[in-house]
Amino acid sequence: MNKDSYIYPFRKNAKGTNTAEIYAERGDALERYIFDAVVWPYVKEQGEQAFVIDVGAGEGRYSQYFGRNAKSVMALEPDEHRCNKARENTASMAAAVECVQGTVADAQVGNDSADLVVNIHVLQHVHPDDATAILDFAARTVRSGGLFVLAFTKKTPLDEDWNMTWSENGRSHYVEVPEDVFRMVSGAHLPTVLPVRKLHADEILKELEHKGFAIEARQEYAPRFLGEKKKLQGIFFKWLYRNLSSPVFHKLINTVGYPLQEDIVVVARKK
Ligand SMILES: C[S@@+](CC[C@H](N)C(=O)[O-])C[C@H]1O[C@@H](n2cnc3c(N)ncnc32)[C@H](O)[C@@H]1O
Repeated sequence: MNKDSYIYPFRKNAKGTNTAEIYAERGDALERYIFDAVVWPYVKEQGEQAFVIDVGAGEGRYSQYFGRNAKSVMALEPDEHRCNKARENTASMAAAVECVQGTVADAQVGNDSADLVVNIHVLQHVHPDDATAILDFAARTVRSGGLFVLAFTKKTPLDEDWNMTWSENGRSHYVEVPEDVFRMVSGAHLPTVLPVRKLHADEILKELEHKGFAIEARQEYAPRFLGEKKKLQGIFFKWLYRNLSSPVFHKLINTVGYPLQEDIVVVARKK
């Protein structure tokens, strides 16, 4: 990737999506709840001397979150604007923070040097070769006993078929392109088109195990609301999503087994 000209599409919120404000906010609250409940207990155990690497840090919101108990943080972000935002947003952290404009190829870090590598909502947006490079980087840099926290968008049983999206005149467009076109477009890093390759969760988990990690925890979250197929159900759950607190909503959808949880977070420990 030519990081000097790389611009991540959609700058509307920190996560980088153009989702309507209310959903973005509620989505962030639900995600934060899940991370607090499922992921943080593992992270805390790495202690106050921990070295954290945040791959695809965006504006640094998860560098702040995962680095709050750590000694030092390296935030890797190829988009210059977002990297500068990450510098601003992490300036007052207790940990020593270094924001590097670039990808894993630009990180000057030794093997087995990190206690924690995090990669939050990056994998589905990048060229498949870049995704492999990120997983290889985690396998190389996380020390034995250290953790890799990976969150991504996964395929769901009722998925609609699209893997590219962009906005035009205030409208969002979603199209499905074949694998070879996906590779071309995601490799071209167009500033206006966001590739979204929904990944098979089990394949990624298997790959992590193959690369020397043991899966300690996994949690699906982020409900997608059903469209035409089950419209009433979708409207009902959307209403609940907007009106209930994140813990209550999460408990409810787990209890009824709401079928479309499209994001997943995985805590993997290096053997
Ligand atoms: C959806 S945003 C997530 C940002 C951040 N992790 C968060 O959750 O707030 C995806 C980020 O990945 C970055 N990115 C794109 N390609 C990348 C690559 N090959 N390596 C690392 N980061 C990349 C983008 O610039 C963007 O900031």
